[in-house]
Amino acid sequence: MTGPDFLWGVSTSAFQIEGGFDEDGRLPSVWDEFPSFEGQTARVACDHRNRHAEDVALLRELGVNAYRFSLSWPRVEGGRAAGSGSAASSGLDFYDRLVDDLLDAGIAPVATLYHWDTPAHVEEAGGWLARDTAHRLADYAATAAARLADRVAMWIPVNEPAIVTLLGYATGQHAPGKALLFDALPAAHHLNLGHGLAVQALRAAGATSVGTANNHTPAWAATGSAEDAAAASAYADLHNWLYADPVLAGRYPESLVDLLPVEDGDLATIAQPLDFYGVNYYNPTRLSAPSPGNPLPFDLVPITEHPVTGFGWPVVPAGLGEMIGALRTRHPNLPPVHVTESGCSYPHSLDDTERVDYLAAHSEAAIAAGAKGYFVWSVLDNFEWDSGYSQRFGLVHVDYATQRRTPRASFRWYRDRIRR
Ligand code: NOJ
Repeated sequence: MTGPDFLWGVSTSAFQIEGGFDEDGRLPSVWDEFPSFEGQTARVACDHRNRHAEDVALLRELGVNAYRFSLSWPRVEGGRAAGSGSAASSGLDFYDRLVDDLLDAGIAPVATLYHWDTPAHVEEAGGWLARDTAHRLADYAATAAARLADRVAMWIPVNEPAIVTLLGYATGQHAPGKALLFDALPAAHHLNLGHGLAVQALRAAGATSVGTANNHTPAWAATGSAEDAAAASAYADLHNWLYADPVLAGRYPESLVDLLPVEDGDLATIAQPLDFYGVNYYNPTRLSAPSPGNPLPFDLVPITEHPVTGFGWPVVPAGLGEMIGALRTRHPNLPPVHVTESGCSYPHSLDDTERVDYLAAHSEAAIAAGAKGYFVWSVLDNFEWDSGYSQRFGLVHVDYATQRRTPRASFRWYRDRIRR
């Protein structure tokens, strides 16, 4: 059962949908030139920067009461009056209009500050390997909140720090493309510190509800052996607890703490009280003991006993309840949980019954686990990072040649589910 306060939402991010790469004085970001599928870029993407009114009309038709989007850090940064260092940025004008349009439509704006589009000059100064980037994020948070905190309902400073560290700095599959393995770990600490400093900056500017959007995956041991259990535990520390523990309990997992550049006071800064804890859930991960020569403490083992999405990701709705349960067991003080992302890619049929089944099962799992909100990733097909436009996650199909939006069967299903 869901009450009237339950948030039925959808999620997007700036770089993946906005386009408008050279509008509003936007600065280059680390993703602009990063190699993607078949050389595709997000210079236009869904052209949402210029079509937001049409997109808000779609949200209204869908009937969601919350919309999670992100602000583009390079757009906001680029719009600051040169040398002023002031809290004003013309890069915020677009978000100001978007927020007002959402409120007019009766939709609560949920704003993420950092969804992976680091300004290129911030990366050149060290990116998340540099402690100073945490302070740059807090400055940006203060600028954004000075303009929007009176109307944004919920704030999320950082989206999925685990994926930024793992794919951006440890394996190099994502921008900025650094393959540092364990030497990537300082990025995790600086992302966590950036979260804490940004929470403080947001609250100082009047934000009333602040939380997270952490990617979480149940880590399954391939067999009952002690070696495989150790591999699963090492993976859970790297993917889940490295981010949940400092934020919720002001500590780091024992296996990792000595590898992190923690300074006095950092953990207290990171462990700011939160109004909600956002979980992005896609699938579990199976691990076994590392094979000879693997520098990592685990091997990834494919999960083959479940159906898979277009991306090949296993469909395991029960994993969502398992993960929320694990978070509650480890952190009994867990704030109210929102599932801030849940969704699947499938080839581009409009009659997407697999997506309907996926969303029905996962939204029920979220409700059964006591979540207070469920946000589908995503409302539109969009630019899926290194996979470009090849993976379609939308309730709405986008024809990138014409920018025509066509609701899929899953859009109508979600609309009806929300009405119930
Ligand atoms: C999580 C990320 O936050 C989002 O940007 C991405 O598109 C989805 N996962 C799907 O991979």
